[in-house]
Amino acid sequence: MKSADYQRLYDAVTRVAKQAYAPYSQFAVGAALLMKDGQIITGANVENASYGLSNCAERSALFTAYSLGYRQNDIIGMMIIGPTLGPVSPCGACRQVMAELINPDVEVVMTNWEKQDLVVKVKDLLPFRFAKDDLDGRKQV
Ligand code: THU
Repeated sequence: MKSADYQRLYDAVTRVAKQAYAPYSQFAVGAALLMKDGQIITGANVENASYGLSNCAERSALFTAYSLGYRQNDIIGMMIIGPTLGPVSPCGACRQVMAELINPDVEVVMTNWEKQDLVVKVKDLLPFRFAKDDLDGRKQV
């Protein structure tokens, strides 16, 4: 990723993480997507008193992008920040959603407030993921 793109994404994730609604976990996460058209789409985690209804930052960003009309081929990079000791790691649910909504070779920068980065491709975040082709190839039983 170009350093200018990295810096734009880092500014975006730090800004949006401050908008997280995380009164239960006190664990604010920010995610940002770099789009082919140069736009950056962000998302933060939004929690609920019924904890299981909370939405992670990654899915907030992706659902916003798709709601704006963007699709898989429009996303060229992603960054996630959390208040973690090392790079923040997306949960399993988010990995599943990322595997469908972002192209497999797109790089995801996982980071923290100390800029300790780990860069992993979407396809390596969730090996053996369940995908549309599993449904398309289903058998009648
Ligand atoms: N969370 C995220 O938003 N993204 C992650 O990658 C890890 C976890 C949120 C979910 C919940 O609101 C809080 O962080 C603690 O799990």
